[in-house]
Amino acid sequence: MSDGKLTGKVAIITGASSGIGQGIALKYAAEGASVVIDYFGNDAGATSAKQQIEAAGGKAIIVAADVSKPSEVGSLVDQAWAAFGKADILVNNAGVEKGGEFVDVLEADYDFVLNVNLKGPYFTTQAFVKRLLAANMPGRVINMSSVHEDMVFPHFSTYCAAKGGLRMLMRDLAVELGPKNITVNNIAPGAISTPINTKMMADGPQLRALLANIPLGRMGTLDDVANLATFLASDDAAYITGSTYVVDGGLMRSYHEQ
Ligand code: BGC
Repeated sequence: MSDGKLTGKVAIITGASSGIGQGIALKYAAEGASVVIDYFGNDAGATSAKQQIEAAGGKAIIVAADVSKPSEVGSLVDQAWAAFGKADILVNNAGVEKGGEFVDVLEADYDFVLNVNLKGPYFTTQAFVKRLLAANMPGRVINMSSVHEDMVFPHFSTYCAAKGGLRMLMRDLAVELGPKNITVNNIAPGAISTPINTKMMADGPQLRALLANIPLGRMGTLDDVANLATFLASDDAAYITGSTYVVDGGLMRSYHEQ
């Protein structure tokens, strides 16, 4: 693994036991990075990701950390440094969504979605950056946002609030951390075939309505997102910061008269 796009790099990926996070972990490892697989709850998924990486000759550790708990993400970053001596790339991928009419949203639902999707990236990035600054090292932060950092999603107000916040957090940190050579960008996936969409994909009419809104006529794959995440983590993206990269088959620009 000497000629990958991420050879010699160490990447922490939150929520890497399934879906987009696992896809990125496998791709980064295939490109030569040592990977820290953060997960919460899904031991089997995390173990499977590690085994797949090792079977292909890559390096990975798994760390259980709830991103919504600042003390746990501090330990996550510490474990990355303990295992690999540094951490160059952070992918804030862990995310949840919970639909519901605005008037029915409970405080517990709000806290669940905002804590994982916004407080999580905030304090994980803080812990990641503190170690970089102490070591005087450059770094990359990539947040898994959504088309819904910009586009409405009725009945998912907490999700939109979190992703909209993540957009401004990314912009703000890009400016604050740029002088330290730490770049910060967002990826905004549209509808990707992952566990977060299992329910919708099993609902024929809902799936057909969604696909009618996607100019490229299909849902995205893990590779569609992981390829972009690889580019943003690679040396090719050294001059890119403060931007959101949309990977949605055209969904965000699509409008239909019914
Ligand atoms: C959400 C999916 C949704 C997609 C497109 C994603 O951020 O997680 O549930 O299908 O956006 O609306």
